[in-house]
Amino acid sequence: MLGFSIFPEVSGMPHTEREELTPKENNQLLLPGGHPPMWNHMDSIGPIGLPHREGVPGCSQEGLPYPSNSSELVLECLQQFKVTGTQLQQIQARLLGSMEQALGGQASPASAVRMLPTYVGSIPHGTEQGDFVVLELGATGASLRVLWVTLMGTGGHRMEPRSQEFVIPPEVMLGPGQQLFDFAAHCLSEFLDALPVGKQGLQLGFSFSFPCHQTGLDRSTLISWTKGFRCSGVEGHDVVQLLRDAIKRHGAYNIDVVAVVNDTVGTMMGCEPGVGPCEVGLVVDTGTNACYMEEARHVAVLDEDRGRVCVSVEWGSFGDDGVLGPMLTTFDHALDRESLNPGAQRFEKMIGGLYLGELVRLVLAHLAQQGVLFGGCTSPALLSRGSILLEHVAEMEDPWAGAARVHALLQDLGLNVGASDVELVQYVCAAVFTRAARLCAAALAAVLSRLQHSREQQILQIAVATGGRVFEQHPSFLSILQETVMLLTPECDVSFIPSVDGGGRGVAMVTAVAARLAAHRHLLEETLAPFQLNREQLAAVQAQMREAMVKGLRGEASSLRMLPTYVRATPDGSERGDFLALDLGGTNFRVLLVRVTAEGVKITNQIYSIPENVAQGSGQQLFDHIVDCIVDFQQKQGLSGQSLPLGFTFSFPCRQLGLDQGILLNWTKGFSASDCEGQDIVCLLREAIGRRQAVELNVVAIVNDTVGTMMSCGYEDPRCEVGLIVGTGTNACYMEELRNVAAVAGDSGHMCINMEWGAFGDDGSLGLLRTCFDASVDQASINPGKQSFEKMISGMYLGEIVRHILLHLTSLGVLFRGQQTQRLQTRDIFKTKFLSEIESDSLALRQVRAILEDLGLPLTSDDALMVLEVCQAVSQRAAQLCGAGVAAVVEKIRENRGLEELTVSIGVDGTLYKLHPHFSSLVAATVRELAPRCVVTFLQSEDGSGKGAALVTAVACRLAQMARV
Ligand code: G6P
Ligand code: BGC
Ligand code: BGC
Repeated sequence: MLGFSIFPEVSGMPHTEREELTPKENNQLLLPGGHPPMWNHMDSIGPIGLPHREGVPGCSQEGLPYPSNSSELVLECLQQFKVTGTQLQQIQARLLGSMEQALGGQASPASAVRMLPTYVGSIPHGTEQGDFVVLELGATGASLRVLWVTLMGTGGHRMEPRSQEFVIPPEVMLGPGQQLFDFAAHCLSEFLDALPVGKQGLQLGFSFSFPCHQTGLDRSTLISWTKGFRCSGVEGHDVVQLLRDAIKRHGAYNIDVVAVVNDTVGTMMGCEPGVGPCEVGLVVDTGTNACYMEEARHVAVLDEDRGRVCVSVEWGSFGDDGVLGPMLTTFDHALDRESLNPGAQRFEKMIGGLYLGELVRLVLAHLAQQGVLFGGCTSPALLSRGSILLEHVAEMEDPWAGAARVHALLQDLGLNVGASDVELVQYVCAAVFTRAARLCAAALAAVLSRLQHSREQQILQIAVATGGRVFEQHPSFLSILQETVMLLTPECDVSFIPSVDGGGRGVAMVTAVAARLAAHRHLLEETLAPFQLNREQLAAVQAQMREAMVKGLRGEASSLRMLPTYVRATPDGSERGDFLALDLGGTNFRVLLVRVTAEGVKITNQIYSIPENVAQGSGQQLFDHIVDCIVDFQQKQGLSGQSLPLGFTFSFPCRQLGLDQGILLNWTKGFSASDCEGQDIVCLLREAIGRRQAVELNVVAIVNDTVGTMMSCGYEDPRCEVGLIVGTGTNACYMEELRNVAAVAGDSGHMCINMEWGAFGDDGSLGLLRTCFDASVDQASINPGKQSFEKMISGMYLGEIVRHILLHLTSLGVLFRGQQTQRLQTRDIFKTKFLSEIESDSLALRQVRAILEDLGLPLTSDDALMVLEVCQAVSQRAAQLCGAGVAAVVEKIRENRGLEELTVSIGVDGTLYKLHPHFSSLVAATVRELAPRCVVTFLQSEDGSGKGAALVTAVACRLAQMARV
């Protein structure tokens, strides 16, 4: 075998000196295996071609003896194939530059290499199990291969895959895409017909060896065909879908295509555990390419900051931007011009097995036409494209049988082979091959340098899985490659691991991972399906709420109490004065001083906490605590001793008998202070004031936070006739026609009704929508069976619903590798504010992971993605249910007034509504969908309902004033 190693075995010599070694000194051409360093000294000389000589067609100067210096002429011609060490380093550097440019996502100028993320995030950990079908298309040129791979998991012995190769007819490789995929489906079923697979569902891994944009393990769009393929209607399409459609059309087997991988990935993943893990996959077959495990944070398109992802370099297109220009020989240009994709895959066309035979043919034809070979005679076969194949060159190069094969092959090509022709032909083969191996080495060296950079490792120890017939058929290819890599990256300790079955097992590994992820995704979708509410279901909630509203107003049994609030009008702007306001029932307890002047409303407030033991202690303790806060506030505001009118926003269901009388019906939202339910809250407050010496307060009004919010926003926008709270709890109020309020006399004018919609469904009317997770949250709450609607919507419960779903998915092994953590079993550990944070568009998956890691959850990016989807499902359902409720209210008002179209504003408050990135828009969208004849404006309340309570108090004082005069 004629091989040329770049650098003589004089290791340790500094690079440059070695350069100076010239053959002249040796002045002799070494025979195969001798590897004379013959090219080095010719660095500065560019490509040389021998002049063309005319003569008898197919023959040069018939009968003329070979020019004496024919071998010189051959070597001179082959000079063009020489690549110097410097050039190799330049290629390494340029390719590394292109790789980093593409990783950074720099669009322009388009880098020559594509750096395509493959969604393979981890190298196999050997636990993969199962039977998988693998379809390989494109790696080995005009053939596709089907394999049956059985993975035995850790400790299981290795089962030999069964496989079958099918030759792809040229018209299929160049015809319509559908024909190619139908051919593949046909081969699949022909292969399976021979196996006892029966009708069971089969999982398939699709090894598709062409440049593709992957958007998932089973979604991959073909960028452009390479090698001998050019089927129509495939580029720009998802090749997995095309295969699925073909398999469906064929209909013989129930095959699910769960993963598509590039052949380099299959090669890398197929690396035998124990020798690997291989973190680079290198293929040199008809085409060439490599993949490697890059730090995810360096792949701009992924927006990930942790872990690694396998990137397919697609170095075949290196040089398509012209950077290889001076290195391309006339033969390279000729080959490219004749190829299916001129101008593309230039680097591949210097290395790939599909092209090496052709390069040899072009050189031989050229030299024959120069009269240097075969007596100056060519033959139709020698002049026809593709007549010399990779395997021919391999045979001709074989150190033992080569010479004889050269003879036989060239004779088959109709050439009369002279004695010295054999050796010269072997030189040509070796030149073409050595260049290919060295160029491939320079490219691999770029990948190794990249790995050193991205892992900040001085010394990189790495295993490279190799695959492809160029490796299998040309043992010297690997040794030249190894030698060159060692010199281009001396600080890398590289071991080359030949892939055992061309990557079939690797593809099965990825398929197993994909199958596991697909199964997890199915379980996730199954778990979240009950949270996806469709229009019919939402319209049903709207109708049920409407019906419950009417029953509640009539005083009939209904889960909606529809409580009259004795607020008959929204502010008209004439209110004036200083008022104290209390705001209890939300996240914070606030005491406010509200100054209402002609110029507007000025608010001073102080937030106080209500400790859980107070909220769940005795009523006396709670109200004494409230009075303490008021006194503290008055002192701080210099109001001590002043008895300002006070409005009390008390955000719990109260049956009001008047503006300043409210009987607490039941606590909600984690409050359970004793001796309060059934009591008049205003009395309890006044008693607490009475218990405190020297404090005088004039409690004028008690309002619900929905009413306070409506009034507060109504002060700015008189069309505001609905109040909505979506915070710790949820509820709504609206201005109802007094004639419809059975509990209050009079049938003209309006009355604001506190719907207490949190209790909607407590009569079981929401049973169809309730999930087992809602039931778990309800059972664990301090008021099981109560506030059903609230427990599907509000901030106090959404985090808990998510936590229960995460526990369920962990128990199914879908999340956190099935590891239940103590933290996740802790009540309320998953705050609802996490949903708002996790679903924020500006938050990358990595930040999602950070939130969850703070919760001590060991997670992968797939886990983070699934947690995000769980949060989205839970908050979307909450927003849609809330929207259905609002639609019921505004439609009621519209119909009350017999309007074709209603324009109304809704005052809204509550942390969940205000902070969640999508909640408000989902509510508005649902209202538009279910109440198209209502034009609804949502006004986010700036000052909370304390201002509203003060305004209600101001109206009451004004009316009392007028009553007195
Ligand atoms: C504002 C209002 C409160 C209301 C609360 C609801 O703060 O002033 O009256 O109760 O919103 O939201 P939250 O998220 O605090 O429960
Ligand atoms: C393709 C690559 C493939 C390589 C080796 C190239 O033509 O673009 O995707 O990995 O051939 O088969
Ligand atoms: C209460 C309502 C209140 C709502 C919002 C619910 O739990 O029952 O009165 O309006 O929470 O705070």
